[in-house]
Amino acid sequence: MFQFSLRICSARRPKLQPQTISFFQKSITCTLSRSMASKSMTINPPRDPNTLSNYNNFLTKHTVANFAIDFEKKRLDGNVVLKLQSISDSESKDVVLDTSYLEIKDVSVKGGTLSNWQLLPPLEPYGSALKISLSKEAEKGQFLEIDIRLQTTDNCTALQWLTPAQTSNKRHPYMFSQCQAIHARSVFPCQDTPDVKSTYDFNIHSTLPVITSGQATGVKDAEPSVNGHPSTSLYTFTQPVPIPSYLFALASGDIATAPIGPRSTVATGPEELESSKWEFEADTERFIRTAESLVYPYAWSTYNVLVLPPSFPYGGMENPVYTFATPTVISGDRQNVDVIAHELSHSWSGNLVSNASWEHFWLNEGWTTYLERRIEAVVRGESHRDFSAIIGWKALSDSIAQFGEESEFTKLVIDLKGKHPDDAFSSVPYEKGFHFLYHLEKLVGKQKWDRFIPHYFTKFKEKSLDSYDFKASLLEFFDGDQEASRALKELDWDGWFYKPGFPPKPVFDTSMVDVCYDLADKWKSFSSSASESADAFKPQAKDIEGWMANQVVVFLERIQGFEQPLSKEAIHVMGEVYSFVESKNVEIVARYLGVGLISGSEEVKGPTVELLGKVGRMKFVRPL
Ligand code: BES
Ligand code: ZN
Repeated sequence: MFQFSLRICSARRPKLQPQTISFFQKSITCTLSRSMASKSMTINPPRDPNTLSNYNNFLTKHTVANFAIDFEKKRLDGNVVLKLQSISDSESKDVVLDTSYLEIKDVSVKGGTLSNWQLLPPLEPYGSALKISLSKEAEKGQFLEIDIRLQTTDNCTALQWLTPAQTSNKRHPYMFSQCQAIHARSVFPCQDTPDVKSTYDFNIHSTLPVITSGQATGVKDAEPSVNGHPSTSLYTFTQPVPIPSYLFALASGDIATAPIGPRSTVATGPEELESSKWEFEADTERFIRTAESLVYPYAWSTYNVLVLPPSFPYGGMENPVYTFATPTVISGDRQNVDVIAHELSHSWSGNLVSNASWEHFWLNEGWTTYLERRIEAVVRGESHRDFSAIIGWKALSDSIAQFGEESEFTKLVIDLKGKHPDDAFSSVPYEKGFHFLYHLEKLVGKQKWDRFIPHYFTKFKEKSLDSYDFKASLLEFFDGDQEASRALKELDWDGWFYKPGFPPKPVFDTSMVDVCYDLADKWKSFSSSASESADAFKPQAKDIEGWMANQVVVFLERIQGFEQPLSKEAIHVMGEVYSFVESKNVEIVARYLGVGLISGSEEVKGPTVELLGKVGRMKFVRPL
């Protein structure tokens, strides 16, 4: 069995008090005004409040990451070379980068002269700024190459290290990264903001196969072991498309690969290879083609999936070239491939066209959820879009209930000054974002809207944008169209952007969920009626025969929403008759256990503990 050591990072972070927040805002202003004091000009703070870097003065254009993976010491050791361009009119002398819990060994500069460097005191939750001072101001347009030698530390919030005992075949260690939203700074110093994009080269030494968010360019085979140290190979990769730091990704372990389509590969543990291949090979290429027909050709040359150990905290992460995915998608029934449709869609929304800051996260996740459901509609049928949207509405309700209807984090555009984006993470940007786009589609009409989609993804390709850029581009696109234009001008933009709580609820096509609701209602009566009358509901396996896993999910979520929990006996019968505990589909198991726990059932406690000891995906861990 897998154990996992998922870090709940926010637990360790001191919560910011209001006065600390204003101190933080001031300190940004001071840093900038000091460096520009002589120029007496107005300073626009960067539009991303979650970085300490001065990316208004310099922009990272290319990054070379040279790392050795040290499984024994559980750290990366090496250097990064950042090629930066000076962009501000006021000549600037300091380069400020984000770091968090890094050990910086040395800094050198090419194309300029280094005066000194220092790690500033931490400004949590953003880490310690690395201030690199030049002896001479950089002129606008000038390039600098900053070479930083570093090691990651035990406090790194982006990397998980598994011992051989924590892997499925128990033979080798494993490591992987998860940088979104602001954890890249705990791997290497960078401008850790989605508003800056850089091309990358990765040169990684490891004793085990390596995967990154770049295209593999070669492997230099094992150098003989020295002084008893295990021998390592050099794995090289390149990412020619500029990407934000949060898409930097690295994994290494006992990894095997198999094809799942003409331009797609799955990578996972050798024992899991066959089942993972089967899970994805029927849909991957179909999804890619459908997405291409909605937007435009796939830009990252190959689309691959790495299936990680169960402690991976997300369902999927859209790392370019290689989506990182939880093994809970390998359910043996191809019923969780919506995760692939989702991560693949990020190849356009998020990875090519990125939110400029995490305050506008809906531009990544709302657009992606929208594209994911458009793919489902084409591949599975139009009713599946609403089916998925109904499940999404339940997730949205849960998130709103958790934060409170008036909470800042239930808005589409949120205020993250002084806050950690992880603390705002919820279904709101996904579902409210989806509903906003769905609403716009209805408002201008689907045919016209479908012409806007490729326009939008072309206009902002390889760029980052905020909600105001989105609004402006939409109004501009429909400028010549009187009808659409009027509708868009009359739209309550501020309401959509800034009103907390639910968006207007559309009328859903409920054709796929009605049977689920009916069955749930029968269980309500089963639970409360002790009678053995002839017409009483008698649960049988065939109640759910032929159902899709998501229909079972809807059924269980409906029961979870009952004011009166089911009886413990009903939970027992349901588990037996529908064989829920034996299901290989964690979406089903986790919800059945949840319903059982609400009912106070003793018999679900053991299986719940067992599941929580195996699976690190937060979607399941948190509710349970
Ligand atoms: N990019 C997200 C995961 C993420 C978000 C990581 C914020 C860190 C910070 C990814 O695309 C995602 O949305 N994953 C979902 C999958 C789903 C909606 C199909 C997940 O993990 O559940
Ligand atoms: Zn996503």
